[in-house]
Amino acid sequence: MKPVKVGVIGLGTVGGGTVNVLKRNAQEIARRAGREIVVSRAAARNLDQPRICDTHGIDLTTDPFLIVNDPDIDVVVELMGGYALARELVLTAIENGKHVVTANKALIALHGNEIFAAASRKGVMVLFEAAVAGGIPIIKAIREGLSGNRIKWLAGIINGTGNFILTEMRDKGRDFADVLAEAQALGYAEADPTFDVEGIDAGHKLTILASIAFGIPLQFDKVFTEGITRITRLDVEYAEELGYRIKHLGIARNTEQGVELRVHPTLIPNRRLIANVNGVMNAVLVCGDAVGPTLYYGAGAGAEPTASAVVADLVDVVRAMTSDPENRVPHLAFHADAIVDLPILPAEEIRTAYYLRLTAEDKPGVLADVTRILAGHNISIEALIQKEPLKDQTSVSIIMLTQLTSEKEMNAAIAEIEALATVTGQVARIRLETLG
Ligand code: HSE
Repeated sequence: MKPVKVGVIGLGTVGGGTVNVLKRNAQEIARRAGREIVVSRAAARNLDQPRICDTHGIDLTTDPFLIVNDPDIDVVVELMGGYALARELVLTAIENGKHVVTANKALIALHGNEIFAAASRKGVMVLFEAAVAGGIPIIKAIREGLSGNRIKWLAGIINGTGNFILTEMRDKGRDFADVLAEAQALGYAEADPTFDVEGIDAGHKLTILASIAFGIPLQFDKVFTEGITRITRLDVEYAEELGYRIKHLGIARNTEQGVELRVHPTLIPNRRLIANVNGVMNAVLVCGDAVGPTLYYGAGAGAEPTASAVVADLVDVVRAMTSDPENRVPHLAFHADAIVDLPILPAEEIRTAYYLRLTAEDKPGVLADVTRILAGHNISIEALIQKEPLKDQTSVSIIMLTQLTSEKEMNAAIAEIEALATVTGQVARIRLETLG
């Protein structure tokens, strides 16, 4: 049988890794797919740049439109990232009847509804396993492996760069900026690394996971997003003292009131497996009503782990190419006409527990004032530590863990605490989940 011809757009970290894996494992891949898969053309912004892959035998161009308009190309692999141009290229490829594989989470999170509708009209596949959690086959696990379940919630460490930074800060006391520079050099970080550290990349991935878990439209604009830039070593240490670890999590929960979609630093009990996921590794916990909690772990970024997911999608495309489009796995796990627009809860209605740290004057009644404010908002304290004042200082750190409350009550309580004359600066607040 004729080889399947692939056109790759983007020959950076993931593109280079994909070419390498396809070449190195060509025989094994052909045995699985039933046909050879060959990269016949590739587009890169700069053809003179040094590459991690051997491009021998690949027709190179700087014009990606030559690839999406080439009648000889069966599958377009979009690995360039970004929104507008990637959207145009993918939609053109679909219009030309080509299947698409992409690692572009921003593209799927923002334009996926439109892209999948176009793909369904043309009867082509758009696969995106590499868009979430790098090499972990989490899309396949949720979309196919758990399809007998009603998914109740999921929570994941879904940004490798952020986890790498938090791990190095905790274990080696390294500086934030220094670790971020290393993550960039290793090819983990996004082109704009604020996407990693401000939680936007994790928000894109959570949007995709929630959609395939609950059968809801992709809606990145409704994700509550907070990054890791305000995490201090002090909070990392106090959390450890209380038996918790701080991880940057994406959380989606299907509640009776609506769906929670949120990305933020989170204290989790250090006995949980996911609390021990370090470095660039990702992990996603998915809880189904039938199966209970399940955990998926692996490298969340990097050339070959991400290529592993891209190539698996290519194999799936080749296997299903000749099948009736009606009988393929739906793009978003649920059939397009069965996607339900469940309400997404506004940030203020999210319910969670909290870690609070504040600096207060060391004098009688201060703690009583703080606890009275919390009680006034019906917030119950679970644990409390007051640190002795440092030498020559008159202020103390007070650290509290609360029980479940709403974000709205907590916002109001924090505003009142910060207004106390005896409290200095802002109250540090980190959400806490037991993930039980
Ligand atoms: N910048 C992303 C991360 C790459 O660090 O997880 C993988 O999506």
